[in-house]
Amino acid sequence: MIGIGVIGYGYWGPNLVRNFAEAQGARVVSVCDSRAERLAPVSKRYPGVKTTTSADEVLNDPAVDAVIIATPVATHHALVKQALQNNRHVLVTKPLTDSVVDAQELVELAAKKNRVLMLDHTFLYKGSVRTIKDMVQAGKLGNLYYYDSVRVNLGLFQHDVNVLWDLAVHDLSIMDYILGVQPREVSAAGIAHVAGRPEDIAYLTCFFEQNLIAHLHVNWLAPVKVRKTLIGGNKQMIVYDDLEPDAPLKIYDKGIDISSSEGIYQALVSYRTGDMWAPQVDMREALSAEAAHFVDCVTHNKRPLTDGESGVRMVRILEAANESLAAHGKPVKL
Ligand SMILES: NC(=O)c1ccc[n+]([C@@H]2O[C@H](COP(=O)([O-])OP(=O)(O)OC[C@H]3O[C@@H](n4cnc5c(N)ncnc54)[C@H](O)[C@@H]3O)[C@@H](O)[C@H]2O)c1
Repeated sequence: MIGIGVIGYGYWGPNLVRNFAEAQGARVVSVCDSRAERLAPVSKRYPGVKTTTSADEVLNDPAVDAVIIATPVATHHALVKQALQNNRHVLVTKPLTDSVVDAQELVELAAKKNRVLMLDHTFLYKGSVRTIKDMVQAGKLGNLYYYDSVRVNLGLFQHDVNVLWDLAVHDLSIMDYILGVQPREVSAAGIAHVAGRPEDIAYLTCFFEQNLIAHLHVNWLAPVKVRKTLIGGNKQMIVYDDLEPDAPLKIYDKGIDISSSEGIYQALVSYRTGDMWAPQVDMREALSAEAAHFVDCVTHNKRPLTDGESGVRMVRILEAANESLAAHGKPVKL
């Protein structure tokens, strides 16, 4: 049984506690939040779990083998570092840190201490995203043309990070997993509508080698919630709607065929409009699969799918995006 300590019981922490309380091979030992009023519901729902307002108490508890950190990003570096120094395995919410330098330091420390450092890049544990990955890997889409996502809703405004660091990080992690290649350049434009707060709407473009492009649109000021991604290849195209309960994936046998009898200047484009189908996907809760994976990695000393390196890759893109945002969309090389 792996003893789990959780730091941060705000909006997201309760989802992690619930899933780890049900995970095989793990036991939630203690839950910490610096706001004492957050702890009353923990004692009521999980009577055997210790509660505290002191993160130090969790990080020094001999019954805690692994720590889950679900606090705002500005606190991640110090908390993860202390946990690793105390020889605890760590699962941390996204993004890993607010700087590449700090993120790399944590990856190196985890390696030195031989501890698991895993990122809560939740979407990679969803059946729909796994199915897309399998299709792309099997070459079903052919050569990829684009990755195009929209993730918008009303709120939740964050104090310490802009909308890219809050919402686009999900799309970046999905894109990283599915495409398996890194962008060479990014360009971001965005704007803040509330004085003193970070950008609440942003458009991030990622340029890759060859003819692959990605565009991510994120917004905290949208009247409706949209979670849609289009992935286009020369053979097939996918529309992924994360809010579609029964059939989140639709595969389109649509595209273009280019034929030329007299060289590239005379190329002819013809349109192909074949069938659409919706594959069956595993609809289990992502956090349940994620909790099982973390327990497996800690128990068997395995490298997680969402390892510390994946966290560094996301922070590297986000840092470059911030640089581009400040320069009104000027492309920044990675
Ligand atoms: N994967 C997802 O879908 C998802 C969704 C939402 C949030 N998140 C991530 O979860 C993390 C937390 O976000 P949230 O929306 O729950 O924020 P939140 O502000 O609602 O909750 C954070 C909690 O941490 C507590 N806290 C802060 N510093 C602390 C410290 N040093 N010691 C103990 N407690 C401390 C706060 O009191 C607060 O209750 C962020 O990294 C966020 O990006 C992930």
